Amino acid sequence: MRKTLSVSILSGKGGVGKTNLALNLAFCLHKGGHPLLLMDCDMGLANLDVLLGLAPEHTMYDLLESDIEPQSIVVPIEQGGFDFLPAASGLTDLIEMDNDTRELLFHRLLPVFDGYDYLFMDLGAGISPTVLSLGAMSDMRVVIITPEPTSLTDSYALIKMMHAQHGVDDFHVIVNQAENPGEVKQAFQRLAAVCDRFLGISPVLLGGVSYDKALPEAVRRQTPLMRMNHKSPAAKDIFSIAVKMQRHRAAIVHTLGQSPLFGELTGKEY
Ligand SMILES: Nc1ncnc2c1ncn2[C@@H]1O[C@H](COP(=O)(O)OP(=O)(O)OP(=O)(O)O)[C@@H](O)[C@H]1O
Ligand SMILES: [Mg+2]
Repeated sequence: MRKTLSVSILSGKGGVGKTNLALNLAFCLHKGGHPLLLMDCDMGLANLDVLLGLAPEHTMYDLLESDIEPQSIVVPIEQGGFDFLPAASGLTDLIEMDNDTRELLFHRLLPVFDGYDYLFMDLGAGISPTVLSLGAMSDMRVVIITPEPTSLTDSYALIKMMHAQHGVDDFHVIVNQAENPGEVKQAFQRLAAVCDRFLGISPVLLGGVSYDKALPEAVRRQTPLMRMNHKSPAAKDIFSIAVKMQRHRAAIVHTLGQSPLFGELTGKEY
């Protein structure tokens, strides 16, 4: 039975820290003993490869263009099943994939997904149809916000659209770039209050991540923060969140056989 938890990392506003949080949470979960596949789903501005200091030979785009073996695109990041699926950046025809292309791509990737405990999807910012449908199909949606008012309004718009178009009502939230725990609480409560009042939805707070100069430093060095300095404030926060994600998976692992992402794909003929 499939036991992969698919996790989409989302945000309304761009540049809030999705890619860095996806990478470092993935790093922690792998260190915790979980095989994990990190998939760059930001087809417009793919940059996980840059954060990892990699120049992959193939990307997922090649799967649509040729009959290359899907396994040959997978790039190992660490031994023991921490792997990466690179996307091609700046390909305008892929930024907004239509439904058929997206389904074809995921169908070709199905054999690759096997055997991981987590599939992390780092999505582009905003409310494009690709973001909304991949987010809706995943088992867990993690919305990254910052304490800025623009981030709150944009993340509310994202949640509202996903709820309206796909009937989704469960969301987890991380407040990134917070100056103190009070800011985390306040930002989350503001978002939770509007979600509750206008949509009848109660998002769950996974935790806050401190504003930490070590993070831009890790970006400059093209290495995950967890590898560079796992004792920095943001690294400690990210570790606590990874522990919660581990607990969440343990609580729902028995339901993952009917995972929407994989279920929808396996039932189709191509
Ligand atoms: N906790 C933090 N403390 C300090 N700086 C941070 C933190 N989180 C993110 N940043 C900074 O924000 C920048 C943008 O982060 P990142 O690329 O992960 O955002 P993103 O949401 O993936 O952006 P995009 O929407 O373009 O995909 C990083 O290069 C980093 O310098
Ligand atoms: Mg990003």
